[in-house]
Amino acid sequence: MRHEWLNDAVFYEVYPQSFQDSNADGIGDFAGIVSRLDHIAGLGCNAIWINPCFDSSFYDAGYDVRDYYKTAARYGGNEDLRHLFDEAHRRGIRVLLDLVPGHTAIDNPWFAESCKDERNAWTDRYIWRPIGQTPSLNSPYESVRGFIGGIAERPDAAAVNCFSTQVCLNYGFGTVTEDWQFAADSPEAEGGRLLLEDIMDFWLGLGCDGFRVDMAASLVKEDTPDHQWTSLLWRRIREHLDQTHPDAVLVSEWGNPKEALHAGFDMDFLLHFGPSHYLDLFRDNPWFSAVAAAAGTADVRAFVDTYRSMVDDTAGEGYICIPSGNHDMVRMRDTLTPDEMKLAFAFLMTMPGCPFVYYGDEIGMAYVHGLKSKEGGYERTGARTPMQWDDSTNAGFSAARRTDLYLPLDDGTGHAALADTGERIAAAGTSDGTRPNVAAQTGDPSSLLETVRSLIALRHAHPALQADGGIRFLYAEDHAYPLVYERTATADANAAGERIIVAINPSGTDATSPLEAAPGAVLHTVGRSPATWADGLLTVPAGSATVFIV
Ligand code: NOJ
Ligand code: CA
Repeated sequence: MRHEWLNDAVFYEVYPQSFQDSNADGIGDFAGIVSRLDHIAGLGCNAIWINPCFDSSFYDAGYDVRDYYKTAARYGGNEDLRHLFDEAHRRGIRVLLDLVPGHTAIDNPWFAESCKDERNAWTDRYIWRPIGQTPSLNSPYESVRGFIGGIAERPDAAAVNCFSTQVCLNYGFGTVTEDWQFAADSPEAEGGRLLLEDIMDFWLGLGCDGFRVDMAASLVKEDTPDHQWTSLLWRRIREHLDQTHPDAVLVSEWGNPKEALHAGFDMDFLLHFGPSHYLDLFRDNPWFSAVAAAAGTADVRAFVDTYRSMVDDTAGEGYICIPSGNHDMVRMRDTLTPDEMKLAFAFLMTMPGCPFVYYGDEIGMAYVHGLKSKEGGYERTGARTPMQWDDSTNAGFSAARRTDLYLPLDDGTGHAALADTGERIAAAGTSDGTRPNVAAQTGDPSSLLETVRSLIALRHAHPALQADGGIRFLYAEDHAYPLVYERTATADANAAGERIIVAINPSGTDATSPLEAAPGAVLHTVGRSPATWADGLLTVPAGSATVFIV
């Protein structure tokens, strides 16, 4: 394996706007993140991913970059980010930045140059189609969302990716059918790759440890169904990094580990879209919800079958990452109770690959309903509210006036603590006592926070539970409970190969599964009592998880 540290990595995703504000302007910043690194380290996380923190028009929360070489002033300068790298490294925390290769902001100066009716270095860096060919947001191409016309001096319309403010960079087309399209192996498309390599080298040179790559599969347009051209592009980028920064780690937003890891990524996410979307046991297929268990609506088998084939397809090539949530998903707390979340974390921290904790999920922060869209967030906005540190003013997030916060806080019921009029609807500075926060849960062994902390510690202590450990599902039946699996580490010179068995039952009734031999000693229990074994049958109490060491 290329990066040994990943075997024991536990990631924490920081949405910089909402993590910690240090200068009372209501928006999180680098100094704020630095001041909270001890929380991340104390939780046991040893790597962070920060959402895009570059100069941006913020029509999509920073996924619309204006200057790839400069941080957004609201977070601090490049020097402040470099300081963050140093402070993180001092605590043994690696830092991944968010690379947005697919599109720039529409007001990126590169695009302004490309708009000119003259040839220059940026003319072919974007995807342009002759204006006469009816530019519209209904693109005839599957991989191009639309074309926007009327904005350039040149007689062309520009391709856009997500919003019409996100103009596509040009990495060429897999299948060329029109004369304005460049082939994926043309020098023009090559220019896109060189640009990316330069940006990556710049930040790696400043001390970051790698990148989470936005929409990684989408770069070459009209690619083959299995993204061969885009994969080739990433393999070439990996070869470049192997020369310049061999330690750089890349995790893709791809949602198809087989393709992504073959393309040279170290890790890929199971996501709420793509071939893995129905695998989400916390949301779409909420196997961890007792209500879903009673209604018989969730299927763990569907997850296991697909997951197992993904593991088989990628053995030894890198990792499949399961996130607790992210800035694009409704928070886990919307479907699961805090007690159910403990079991979800027991699962996350005992699965192979690298787990990702979305900020605030460790305390069970709510998805806040009814918010107006902020920075292109739309329905994602409710998952991006300020981190809740304590019960002081603004939950310890910021000393700004409440009305100046990036987003309103949860009022303790999953709704905004400020009415749209700015009227205060919760007690000054505090919630009604039900809004979870870090301070209130710290030191309380029954809290979600302490449960997550102890599960992460368990993972660090046991090689079998870490990314490289093997997995074998022992009981995973259609619409049934419990889930039982075995994790193994291979023996080496320092340690005998461990064997660990995990049994989880989020349903409201005790559940049994056949298990031939006794599962060994209880290592860790979440819930009231551990699972028990007798006569070839494992009984897992309602709402519990047990980790055994054989
Ligand atoms: C995926 C990111 O996670 C999301 O937040 C963003 O809006 C799109 N890519 C577009 O860059
Ligand atoms: Ca600030």
